[in-house]
Amino acid sequence: MMALHVLALLVVMAASPVVPRLVELSYTYNVDAPTSPKLRPFSMTVLKKGTNDLGIWLVHLLLLYDAYTYVSSEHLYTFTPTHHVTLLSLPCRGCRGAVTGWSSTSFCTSEHSGTHVDAPVHFARDTWPINEIPLERLWRVPGVVIDVSQAISEANETNFAIPVSELEAWESRHGVIPDGALVFIRTGWGAKSHDLAEYSGIDNQRRNNFPGLSKEAATWLATHGARHGHPTGVVGVGVDTISVDVGNSTHYEAHQAMYSRNVYGMENLANLDQLPTTNFLVTVMPMRIGGGSGAPARIIAELPEKHTGASHLIQASEGTRMNAELPFLLMAAVVGPLLRHLRD
Ligand SMILES: *[C@@H]1O[C@H](CO)[C@@H](O)[C@H](O)[C@H]1NC(C)=O
Ligand SMILES: *[C@@H]1O[C@H](CO)[C@@H](O)[C@H](O)[C@H]1NC(C)=O
Repeated sequence: MMALHVLALLVVMAASPVVPRLVELSYTYNVDAPTSPKLRPFSMTVLKKGTNDLGIWLVHLLLLYDAYTYVSSEHLYTFTPTHHVTLLSLPCRGCRGAVTGWSSTSFCTSEHSGTHVDAPVHFARDTWPINEIPLERLWRVPGVVIDVSQAISEANETNFAIPVSELEAWESRHGVIPDGALVFIRTGWGAKSHDLAEYSGIDNQRRNNFPGLSKEAATWLATHGARHGHPTGVVGVGVDTISVDVGNSTHYEAHQAMYSRNVYGMENLANLDQLPTTNFLVTVMPMRIGGGSGAPARIIAELPEKHTGASHLIQASEGTRMNAELPFLLMAAVVGPLLRHLRD
């Protein structure tokens, strides 16, 4: 039996020798999340924040009692820890640790605050809302980074409209953008994200000011697949600013050029400077809002990297979880029979 387990482990290790390094491309979704000053920002209401009071303990004693009696009647009084783990874990989901306390909040936000995905329907009728973007266009999609930060700083123009020539120059250095790719445009604006006034460039006429894609560059990206005979083309475009358009845009032409062709957008991206130019995968997980024009999103890049400690890491985290449940198992073993004895 032991030999079989070791064999299985070896097979798993041989099958996955490369473990990716993960890079977080989302900002934490809270009141400080980079957001257009024109939109409803994220806000949170604390509903409950309890710590270690008598009520919590009583609830848990009752859960333990229920769990024990259920298991014991089903299994002729044999103590089966796996059932206890399941039964105890379920009601505790959402609690922040059964012993140390628990919390619950509600939140309110624009679909377009913080790191988020723009669904094509945001600027084009009869295109995908956020819940209809096909999963193949969200999960482990190849990415490329087009760094235009130098051109922007040389231009000395806050509302710099990125021209097609920047994209063509990138392809002449790095090759044609692959089919089905996500294109990340790095403007360098992410470095200002800690200061919303600077990041948005909001002026006294309540207009934003920051660089973005020209209408021509957005059209070039959205029609890239058709020009190269690619069946899918560019599936999405992400930026480290509030908008795929320039900040002072009034007609949102880059939005329209891409979204009318079912190319989605990603805005307020973090850590674009941590990505290589090519050869990485990105998983995009927007909240599945029915009919949503966009949604807050968790966006994560995978960089290929050789790593040999994979199985060790997995075992370590499983070990921690078991240890955390051990006190409850012991308590269940003691308290359950005691309560049964009192009842009978
Ligand atoms: C950048 O533009 C501003 C005006 O918008 C000007 O005062 C400044 O001299 C320019 N800097 C350079 C390096 O051209
Ligand atoms: C936005 O800023 C650019 C650069 O200063 C300018 O050329 C353009 O006219 C502005 N657009 C609007 C709508 O004000």
